[in-house]
Amino acid sequence: MNDILKYIDDNKNRYMDELVEFLKIPSISSDSRYNNDVLRCAGRLKEYVIDAGIEDVRMIETEGHPIVYAEWKGAGENVPTILIYGHYDVQPVDPLNLWTTPPFEPEIRGGKLFARGTADDKGQMFSHVKAIEAYMKTKGKLPVNIKLLFEGEEEAGSSNLEKFIQDNAEMLACDAALISDTEWFAEGVPSLCYGLRGVQNVEVTVNGPNRDLHSGSFGGAIDNPLNVLCDMISSLKDKHGRITIPGFYDNVLELTDVEREGFKTLPYDEKAYCDDLSIESVNGEIGFTTLERVWARPSLDLNGIYGGYTGEGSKTILPSKATAKISMRLVPHQTPAEVVEKIEKHLKSIAPPTVTIEFTNLHGGTPVLVERESKPVDAAMTALEKAFGKKPVFMREGGSIPVVDQFRVVLNVPSVLMGFGLPSDNIHSPNENYSVENYYGGIKTSALFLDEMSK
Ligand code: BES
Ligand code: ZN
Repeated sequence: MNDILKYIDDNKNRYMDELVEFLKIPSISSDSRYNNDVLRCAGRLKEYVIDAGIEDVRMIETEGHPIVYAEWKGAGENVPTILIYGHYDVQPVDPLNLWTTPPFEPEIRGGKLFARGTADDKGQMFSHVKAIEAYMKTKGKLPVNIKLLFEGEEEAGSSNLEKFIQDNAEMLACDAALISDTEWFAEGVPSLCYGLRGVQNVEVTVNGPNRDLHSGSFGGAIDNPLNVLCDMISSLKDKHGRITIPGFYDNVLELTDVEREGFKTLPYDEKAYCDDLSIESVNGEIGFTTLERVWARPSLDLNGIYGGYTGEGSKTILPSKATAKISMRLVPHQTPAEVVEKIEKHLKSIAPPTVTIEFTNLHGGTPVLVERESKPVDAAMTALEKAFGKKPVFMREGGSIPVVDQFRVVLNVPSVLMGFGLPSDNIHSPNENYSVENYYGGIKTSALFLDEMSK
């Protein structure tokens, strides 16, 4: 392995330059104005994979953005096949004025590389491409068989990926999936994630009178849809921070004592957590710690609410309708389908007869727990320890990666969630960044993981 690790050290500067070039492409998947850039990004990624020494690379069209897929089967039949997943698309960049340097002009400051997509997920995904290159250039081959599955729609809900996986299950057959799209517990604390929350996003519109009305002529006489919507939403949680939708907790897997004890051993500092967010204190479901709430308990949040007048000054109206966007984070064994049915039924049941409700199921993703005692997890723990010189900790995450459940259900394989992000990376936010040390360490970890998997 030493020659491979040396190759990575010797090529650090070029590895950084190439990542910077990759980050300059604004591959924002949810905004159609960037469709050409997303396409260009996929094309560039394909070239990077070819440059790494993998010739069998394809750009596969979908109804949305293309999938970049590659295979290398030279390790033979008695050796495992690893499916490496990542996403080359990024989140939108607004509010632009809060970025210190422009989101698509990467810059290194204080050991961190700033740009949209550095940590989520271009930088993390790129680690694997560069590890493969180091292997191929040093040894002329990889120690295991590899399939690369890079999508361009993760930040827009992966709407075409599920069908792609179902339609191509045979092609994607593997022994384990490897995903680097998660965070460490803290800087300097190498971590392996074994659980992700799921998600279900919905939109609800309350319709009232057939037009906006003068608040003097009508106020007090009829139900205002915006007031109704606010009442409905505020009733979705009680004073103990529990969600009031009937049956919402039915399938929630309770934490075991072993897990709770495990969480307590992590270096969590509530004061630092609050200070970082400029808040006085945390708040959530009674009876649970912050880590338990975020990693192992479901949540319900209003993402946005609109209706009526929101411009300068006042406008004295009763709006004819109002809309709210709501996201719920789910935990095993809740399912998006079950939860969406429960919330729709509940919202319709609590709406007064004076309004009508329109309900839309946006998208969802299933929560996951990965078996901790397995060869791929052992390989990842060993690789992290060798690359960073410290024993990694186990953790869960509050975010979602819907493809993990599809790998489990359709391909029948576990996913190793071996991420290199940090809580300070500002993913989905202005000034997204990625630790330069973790970028290089991630490349080494990826190479070491492949080596461990071949043993
Ligand atoms: N990389 C994140 C998932 C993540 C976030 C992992 C925080 C660990 C910590 C991923 O790109 C993401 O944002 N996923 C979406 C999924 C959704 C669009 C279905 C999410 O969690 O909101
Ligand atoms: Zn991501």
